[in-house]
Amino acid sequence: MKNVLITGSSSGIGKIAAEKLKAEGYNVFQTGRKKLDIENYLSIDLSDPKNVNKLYNYVKENFGEIDILINNAGEYLYSPIDKMKLDETIKIFNSNFISHYYLTSLVVPYMKQKKFGRIVNIASISGVVGEANASLYSATKSAYFGFSKSLALELAEYNITINSISPGWVETPLTNAALNEQEKMETLDVVPQKRFVEPVEIANLIKYLISDSAKGITGQNINLCAGLTCGC
Ligand SMILES: NC(=O)c1ccc[n+]([C@@H]2O[C@H](COP(=O)([O-])OP(=O)(O)OC[C@H]3O[C@@H](n4cnc5c(N)ncnc54)[C@H](OP(=O)(O)O)[C@@H]3O)[C@@H](O)[C@H]2O)c1
Repeated sequence: MKNVLITGSSSGIGKIAAEKLKAEGYNVFQTGRKKLDIENYLSIDLSDPKNVNKLYNYVKENFGEIDILINNAGEYLYSPIDKMKLDETIKIFNSNFISHYYLTSLVVPYMKQKKFGRIVNIASISGVVGEANASLYSATKSAYFGFSKSLALELAEYNITINSISPGWVETPLTNAALNEQEKMETLDVVPQKRFVEPVEIANLIKYLISDSAKGITGQNINLCAGLTCGC
């Protein structure tokens, strides 16, 4: 059975995806910042890309090589650009993109050798259509689109696919921290399906994208957003 590494799977989308893939028989390694007493889990802060070496070495020694990587950990930040500090800017870019770029570079050699690999990035519709006062978050997410297209070309002959999923608003701890009850109602008002996406819908799409049925899909981004990007 294949080994899967899901970053940011101590809560929200990543946690539900981990549960789903374990139930499907995959061996799953999870990460987060919280300290959790669960099997195949490491508490690691990805705002410092140097920690990626620790993560990769720990996983290799205690779990095994990675066949499937889900680049999921991320932080949302709502702030006008003129209020941003450089340190915070770098940390968010590191957490949301740079650490995952580097982690991908470490797992790809094994995938190339095995002539099999699946990489799924959890981006955001914020990176697809833009979002006022979230320019940094949006930039960290749209970075995945160029990354995926280029890497898809580079790795196509090795049977390695790389795709992104761009969720709309999903009800998770991230959303609960970003929106109060009033803001949630206002948000749902502009979502065509008038509902939050459920984390399990993202998990189901991940499951499909890593399956053999999806072997021809690479370099793509799929918006899973309850219609939010339609008409944009
Ligand atoms: N919820 C939405 O509406 C939505 C929409 C579009 C895209 N997304 C994306 O979906 C992904 C998952 O988000 P979610 O909604 O499931 O949020 P969540 O419940 O807050 O989960 C985020 C996960 O990422 C981890 N994480 C955050 N910053 C980290 C850091 N610096 N180092 C290591 N781990 C870190 C968290 O770990 P700890 O909790 O242990 O600190 C947690 O496991 C994110 O990339 C997010 O941008 C979410």
